[in-house]
Amino acid sequence: MKAPLRRAASGLAALTACAVLAGGALAQPPEPTALIDQQHCMFCHTVDQPFLAPSFRDIAARYRDNPQAQAMLEAKLVHGGKAHWGDMAMPPPVERGGPLSEEDAHTLVRWVLSQ
Ligand code: HEC
Repeated sequence: MKAPLRRAASGLAALTACAVLAGGALAQPPEPTALIDQQHCMFCHTVDQPFLAPSFRDIAARYRDNPQAQAMLEAKLVHGGKAHWGDMAMPPPVERGGPLSEEDAHTLVRWVLSQ
């Protein structure tokens, strides 16, 4: 009586895991690892834990429904800007590892917002 139930339950878990994996693969742009290293993003951020800076997942959640977010965050990555999370502003690119092109900022923000 119990065994078939358990089989059904684990089958369901496997299906759910597949759906999550497939959905994630479709929705997420690839991680721009070289850019992230060059700009030392992970010196202050992590994907899912608040550290010196808000986590990328918190940032994505905050801006998910904001159609202006992509452009605003790209400008902030390239030029710096007002602090939205606390007293510490994000330093400009020269202090993070070198100049950042608008195209690279676009790639980075798209990735952050997909977390
Ligand atoms: C020296 C530490 C540091 C580094 C390096 C850094 N950040 Fe940040 N970042 C911060 C801090 C602090 C904040 C919070 C600023 C605020 O209150 O708006 C922040 C905020 C952000 C935000 C949200 C901005 C907003 O207006 O809400 C994004 C997006 C972001 N960082 C992406 C990145 C990316 C991508 C990189 C690598 C290119 C990076 N950060 C590198 C410290 C850093």
